[in-house]
Amino acid sequence: MTENVLWAGRLKEKPQAQAFAFQASLAVDRRLVYQDIEGSRAHVAMLAAQHIIDTETAQALERELSSIALELKTGSLTIDESAEDIHSFIEGILTARLGDRGRMVHAGRSRNDQVVTDCKLYLKQTVPALSAELEHLIAVLLERAEAELETIMPGYTHLQRAQPVTVAHHLVAWCAALFRDRGRLNDALCRLNECPLGSGALAGSGLAIDRAATAAALGFAGPTLNSMDSVADRDFAVELAAACALIQVHLSRFCEDIVLWSSSEFGFLSLADTWSTGSSIMPQKKNPDFAELIRGKSGRTTGNLVSLLTMLKGIPYAYNKDLQEDKEALFDSLDTVSQSLRMFCGMIESARFNRERLAQSCRSGFLEATDLADYLVRKGMPFRTAHAVVAHLVRDCSAAGKQSIDGMSLAQLQSYSELFDTDLYQILKPESCIAARRLPGGPAPEAVRRQIDLLRREINV
Ligand code: ARG
Repeated sequence: MTENVLWAGRLKEKPQAQAFAFQASLAVDRRLVYQDIEGSRAHVAMLAAQHIIDTETAQALERELSSIALELKTGSLTIDESAEDIHSFIEGILTARLGDRGRMVHAGRSRNDQVVTDCKLYLKQTVPALSAELEHLIAVLLERAEAELETIMPGYTHLQRAQPVTVAHHLVAWCAALFRDRGRLNDALCRLNECPLGSGALAGSGLAIDRAATAAALGFAGPTLNSMDSVADRDFAVELAAACALIQVHLSRFCEDIVLWSSSEFGFLSLADTWSTGSSIMPQKKNPDFAELIRGKSGRTTGNLVSLLTMLKGIPYAYNKDLQEDKEALFDSLDTVSQSLRMFCGMIESARFNRERLAQSCRSGFLEATDLADYLVRKGMPFRTAHAVVAHLVRDCSAAGKQSIDGMSLAQLQSYSELFDTDLYQILKPESCIAARRLPGGPAPEAVRRQIDLLRREINV
């Protein structure tokens, strides 16, 4: 049994059912129910400490709020679908159960400061969990990388074979992007750690409320600076939606790698049967649907970010109902990223790299060409000249139907430059190209090992 606390004001009539449903937000903000209760408890304790309500009323409200939380958890109370939003639902129950005492809870606050307080409390819980999921994926990728430190593969630019790298180097490249994503989530969390409660509708309250007390009780670093900004600001939603959009774009790009690698044209990777799907008509098919779907969902998270920015663009300071649109977009982005991270993790954890095929692919495509030019540079030739010599050589090899420089005799090579000598055959091997790149960030196993160790230290795994 709940009481309608919103339509008892100056309005004589409620909107018609469809119109009411249009402006209601319960379907979206119901997930904030426990944060709404938590915020109300801190508010009630503060009202009593400030002698705005008496101790017995505060105790009755506190008891009822705890009971509501418990009843919701055990299922003996369910959220009333006909309520306008979660704030009026909770206040409505308090009023129905406690009469005038229930009517005292809303002194010195507004749904405008309540909704952002609830949201920030929710984010302070869910964003660290998302960050932990990111860390878990990084840990899984690092473990896979450690097993593939020596697994050579072609590295690509423009999707053309470029230079040899290792699978570990490629996987740690993904980790570097995810590590920045983790930083972005944590940055956003630091900035949203200020409590809007007590900002009221926009101008705070003339009652002797104690904003520092509620901020501390709710675990915030302190109250927000300005009451108008508190209810108008949705930067935290934009920052997080942007962080989510970028995580999803990263996953989407990794998935594109996976889709390519698992094709028979590449044949670099086999997805587990449990992380593939079949076709309703073609019996032979093994499709990378999970990778495609994660890739596809980047449209959603980018869309949510654009929705939020567009929604905010034209609205005057301070609160406007447009702001209610923030939650659906933000929650969808958080949910999408969380699900996608978990799916990506399972998919990559169980995939198998086809080492032979990967190594084989390094034997053609002139991946050693840059190292050959570097060889000439070491012997004193200017790089641009060396580039031209090797380009000439590659052109001739290609025209003769060869796929690598390896098969050419020393005499043939020396017709391009007298600086070529027998030691050059050693550097032509993809393993040597990789081993030569021990520099920070490079693909040599010991360089990748250092990258892995650094990330492990940073995220403590
Ligand atoms: N459901 C609203 C929202 O999400 C809560 C604040 C409503 N405030 C108001 N004055 N109508 O933004």
